[in-house]
Amino acid sequence: MANNSNLGAAKAAKNDEFYTQYADIQKEVNAYLEYNPDTFRGKTVLLPCDDPEWSNFTRFFAQNFERLGLKRLISTSYAVESKKYKNYQPTFFETESEWYDVDKTRIKGKIFELTHDTNNSGRIDIDDLEWHYLEGDGDFRSKEVCQLRDEADIIVTNPPFSLFREFVAWIIDGLTDFLIIGNMNAVTYKEVFPLIKDNKLWYGPSITSGDREFMIPEAYPIEAAGWRIDDNGNKYIRVKGVRWFTNLDHGRRHEPLKLMTMKDNLRFSKHKDLIETGYQKYDNYDAIEVPYTDSIPIDYDGMMGVPISFLDKYCPEQFEIIGMAKRGAGDPKLKSKVYTKEDYDNYSDLNATPTLWGDDGKLYNTYPRILIRKKQ
Ligand SMILES: C[S@@+](CC[C@H](N)C(=O)[O-])C[C@H]1O[C@@H](n2cnc3c(N)ncnc32)[C@H](O)[C@@H]1O
Repeated sequence: MANNSNLGAAKAAKNDEFYTQYADIQKEVNAYLEYNPDTFRGKTVLLPCDDPEWSNFTRFFAQNFERLGLKRLISTSYAVESKKYKNYQPTFFETESEWYDVDKTRIKGKIFELTHDTNNSGRIDIDDLEWHYLEGDGDFRSKEVCQLRDEADIIVTNPPFSLFREFVAWIIDGLTDFLIIGNMNAVTYKEVFPLIKDNKLWYGPSITSGDREFMIPEAYPIEAAGWRIDDNGNKYIRVKGVRWFTNLDHGRRHEPLKLMTMKDNLRFSKHKDLIETGYQKYDNYDAIEVPYTDSIPIDYDGMMGVPISFLDKYCPEQFEIIGMAKRGAGDPKLKSKVYTKEDYDNYSDLNATPTLWGDDGKLYNTYPRILIRKKQ
C-alpha cells in the first residue's frame, strides 16, 4: 500500500511519469516505414527524458536497430533527485554493472548508447547497449543533452507533460526531426499552432481518437476511472486525447478527405442540425461555421471554421490552414470585428472564439475553431 508521502509526491509529479507501451511505439514507427522504409536508415536517434532500463522506447529502438538501419541510438534518463516523483530503487542491471556508483545513482542522469556489436553475437541489439552516468542530471535543457540533440537526426520520446511547450521549443531550436507524444490540446498553444500552420509539425498517423493506456508508478494516485493492474502488478491508466506530434512524413496526411458539395451536404448530411441551420456566417470572422469535419463543403472557396479534430484528417495538398480562432492562439488580424464593452456586457467572452447569432437574437460563442481554406 502506498503511504501518504508517496501519494503526495506522486500527485506533485502530475502526468510526468507516464510510460508509453511498446505496441503504441511499434504501431506508430511502422506507419512511417510503410510510407518510407528508409525513414530511420543511417540516422542517429536520440531518446531523451527516457528511463532506458525499463523504457519501451529504448527497448523498441534497440531491438529494431538493424531493421531500421540506425547508425546510432542514444537514450538519456533524468536523475531521480531532480524528478518530482522520487520513488526509486536502482535496477539490478545498474547495481551489477562495473559502472555502478552509489554516490551518483540518485543525482546523475544516465546515457545509454548503441552503435555496434559489443558482445560478438553477430548482430546489434539490446544486449549491446553501453551506459555510463552523465555529468549532470539529464535535464533535456542541460548543455550535454543539448549537445546530444545537436548530434541527433531524429528525437523520439514521450516528454514530461508539464514541460511540453518548452520541449517543443527545444526541439525546434535544434532543427532536428522528431516524433513525440503529447495531448491533442497542445495544438492550441501559441508555441505549437504556428508550427502546425506552417507545416513544420503535424499529428502522427496511428492515434486519431480514443484514449491510450500508459504505465504509471505504483504509488500514483488514481482519482479517475480507467485504470488497471496487470498480472505482474504493473499499474496502467487510460489517458484521453493523446496524439503523436511529428515532422516525419507519412501516408495518411496525403490522403484527401472525401467530401460532398455544400448543396449535397444540405440535402444528405447525416448531421440533422446542419441541414436545419445551414452553413452560418460568423459575426466576427469572414468565414462560415462548419461544425463537423465530414461536413466541409468541397466546393466552398472562402474561409471556413472547422473543429480542432480536423487536424486528424488534415491533408496539406487539400486545405490550407489560415489560423486559429481562439483567444491566445489565434492571429487577431483575422477577425472582422472586435467587440467592446460599449457593444455587449459579455464582450470579453465573445471575443474569445467565433460567434454566431442565435434564433433568440443573441450572439453565442462557438467552440474554438481552426480557419481553413480549400487549396486552389
Ligand atoms: C511522460 S514520461 C515518459 C517516459 C518515457 N519516455 C516513456 O514514455 O516511457 C517523461 C519523463 O521525463 C522525465 N523528466 C521530467 N522533467 C524532465 C527534464 N527537465 N529533463 C529530462 N527529463 C525530464 C520524467 O521524470 C519522466 O521520466
